[in-house]
Amino acid sequence: MSKLQTRFTEQVGIEVPLICGAMYPCSNPELIAAASEAGGIGIIQPISMMFVHDHKLREGIRYIKTLTDKPIGFNALVEASSEIYMNRMKNWVDIALEEGVRFFISALGAPDWVVEKVHAYGGIVYHDVTERKYAERALEAGVDGLISVNNRAGGHAGKKSPQELYDELGDLGVPLICAGGIGSEDKFIEALDMGFDGVQMGTRFIATTECQAHDDYKQAILEADARDIVLTEKISGVPVAVIKTPYVEKVGTKAGFIAKKLLKHPKGKHLMRTYYSLKSLFQLKNASLQGMNYKDYFQAGRSVAGIDRIEPAGDIIRRFAAAAREEAA
Ligand SMILES: Cc1cc2nc3c(=O)[nH]c(=O)nc-3n(C[C@H](O)[C@H](O)[C@H](O)COP(=O)(O)O)c2cc1C
Repeated sequence: MSKLQTRFTEQVGIEVPLICGAMYPCSNPELIAAASEAGGIGIIQPISMMFVHDHKLREGIRYIKTLTDKPIGFNALVEASSEIYMNRMKNWVDIALEEGVRFFISALGAPDWVVEKVHAYGGIVYHDVTERKYAERALEAGVDGLISVNNRAGGHAGKKSPQELYDELGDLGVPLICAGGIGSEDKFIEALDMGFDGVQMGTRFIATTECQAHDDYKQAILEADARDIVLTEKISGVPVAVIKTPYVEKVGTKAGFIAKKLLKHPKGKHLMRTYYSLKSLFQLKNASLQGMNYKDYFQAGRSVAGIDRIEPAGDIIRRFAAAAREEAA
């Protein structure tokens, strides 16, 4: 069997086990479509679609479908800090299902309602996890696969290495995707050889011609080394991987004293997260679209080390797939 045929590609009906991960604020329809069209799968980040790229959700999905007829996915962030937000997310999942999306990646909370809705349409749900206890909880909810987010990932990074996570989750009996630290074809092959059913990449896809992030952001990714990636608590209260820009150096990476106290308090925690989320939605959007002049938080993972050019997303997927085929031959 080819390295590229896995339980994941079979479940989702794609050719290359490679996910272009959801990214707030970097997921734009053209990038998502390009990843799917090349045989991988692009994931819609609904808040990015609407708030950053100015598409109504249903129209945005229809627009993607004019660019590709291949499967696309949808990111359901299920953190329950606000009921209004949760009800919106439920409505967005319904819209995605009505528009034919059948692959969902849930993250940040309990995925039960996502599984219930998506399975009713015969769809597939994978859940983001960073350790076994969350994986077991997600499996109880009925998810079909797990995205194991490691300590090299962009966005909310995990704490463990890819191998540690594989050892911890490999016996759970569902497909496992490796998320974090993959920016080159040899890392892609390494993850498949480790036993993963696929990979999810974020940072690599920011440095593409289709991604609408500001050129300063793309350049910062090309120039950065793994050592330039730091974890900051300032964006959402939990560590997020960013490039150490002069702004990050100036403001530091730790949550302030009052924020820390609130984050420890059960109710304060939700309040603080909501505050961070609202503030960060604007800050990340502006950094991504306006570039270096802004108070820049350029989110990126340690995979920056393997990224040396801006290229079309489809070329990346085709090159990675060709390398894996060659290896197997
Ligand atoms: C800029 C950026 C934004 C992200 N936003 C989200 C998000 O909104 N939802 C989500 O589930 N994951 C998010 N992620 C995580 C990615 O989907 C993916 O798992 C991660 O980027 C993999 O690590 P890599 O960046 O080393 O490839 C984000 C990652 C980055 C780099």
